[in-house]
Amino acid sequence: MADQQRAAQEDVAAAEELVAFVNACPSMFHTAAEIRRRLDGAGFAFLPETAAWRIRPGGRYYTVRNNSSVIAFKVGEGCLGARGAAQGAERGSESAAPLRFQLTASHADSPTFKVKAVPELDGPDGYVRLSVEAYGGMIDYTWFDRPLSLAGRVLVRCGSRVESRLVSIDQDVALIPSLAVHLQRGVNEGFSPNRAVDLCPVFSAGCLGRGSLDALVAEAAGVDPAQVLGRDLFLVNRQSPAVWGVAREFVSAPRLDDLMCAHAALKAFTDAENPACVTVFCCFDNEEVGSNTKQGAMSTFLPDALRRVTDALGLSSEDYRRALAASMLVSCDNAHAVHPNHPEKHDAENRCRLNGGLVIKEAANQHYCTDAFSRAAFAAVCDRAGVPYQVFANRSDMAGGSTLGNLSNIQASMHAVDVGCPQLAMHSAYETAGTRDVRLAIKALRAFYEADLRIEGADAVEIG
Ligand code: CO
Repeated sequence: MADQQRAAQEDVAAAEELVAFVNACPSMFHTAAEIRRRLDGAGFAFLPETAAWRIRPGGRYYTVRNNSSVIAFKVGEGCLGARGAAQGAERGSESAAPLRFQLTASHADSPTFKVKAVPELDGPDGYVRLSVEAYGGMIDYTWFDRPLSLAGRVLVRCGSRVESRLVSIDQDVALIPSLAVHLQRGVNEGFSPNRAVDLCPVFSAGCLGRGSLDALVAEAAGVDPAQVLGRDLFLVNRQSPAVWGVAREFVSAPRLDDLMCAHAALKAFTDAENPACVTVFCCFDNEEVGSNTKQGAMSTFLPDALRRVTDALGLSSEDYRRALAASMLVSCDNAHAVHPNHPEKHDAENRCRLNGGLVIKEAANQHYCTDAFSRAAFAAVCDRAGVPYQVFANRSDMAGGSTLGNLSNIQASMHAVDVGCPQLAMHSAYETAGTRDVRLAIKALRAFYEADLRIEGADAVEIG
């Protein structure tokens, strides 16, 4: 096969880096921990929310909430402009240009099943099953007949302390078996599994009893079962991610929505240099269940962090508001590529394909935050960097989804555009995307982080 027909070596390399990231992130708690590990490695300083923040131009920092959402920021050397040059004398002066934030936001969680407080279902006939409930809106049938494991966090009693421990069981421990076709002859005419009946994972066929799950989890956490006081534990699909296809055009993995965007945004953020503004990377938990939690995109986490940055830089409350007015958010969550067997499910013109680059998503009902201003600003940034991009809109008779941009904008309002990598089978236990889109997404988001965006209300943006 001619070289030009194969996915380029650099595309495959980028997709394999994504695969390594997905493997390190079996739950939202692991996603946050992996992001922290990478930020630590890149010289970022951790600022706990409970500590006083000391920050300076040129520094790089991050904070976390609930160990499942992360906000990192790089304070550009020249972000204070005339204020910085005057060493504070000009602070608050009307002549000084506003501070600017350039942010991306992706999400750390994916649809799965969560283990309930009483984790085991006894029987029937000697079986032990796990008692689980849906976290988010998955395609239920994709969870059948797959080796499954468990990951998340447990809270354990250690003397007078209660401590959080990350847990990931690195073995196949459960499976949701299909009912044989002989016992449900109509299954191929329509399959509508009941989550309380059909989706209970089998955990033992007679060897284990009640208490086995906590024994397993306790061993993984290095404690006694009696010490386990609480669990946020989720089922994990054990099928390995893969870069595949004769021409290596595809990358498939669990949790591509939204780890593909989280990975691209993190790489772009850590690689990019922009002395003129404060660049910000956000990865939020709980997008799949509505974002309205203490650490979700709709919480106070983002405005709290941004406000503390301006406070720590010695800026005023008015300066914070001026900064938001001059800032821009790129909300990054995967998009629906045209399905090969169902092209009719997509808009006739506003549709995207695998390996065509990052997708700008727009909806008149504003479930996507894109508008003409933010679309134009982002498109201009991509054009300048020579990075291709695509468009997406829902078919006009379909409701479509929503994502984090419009929700985070409730708490910290600013210009915002919704983008994402094109993918197939969103919310399947095993999703598929294009190899080249990994690299193209990183390139587009890096161009955004490195652009010098001077926003003039909704009148204009000067892109340096
Ligand atoms: Co998503």
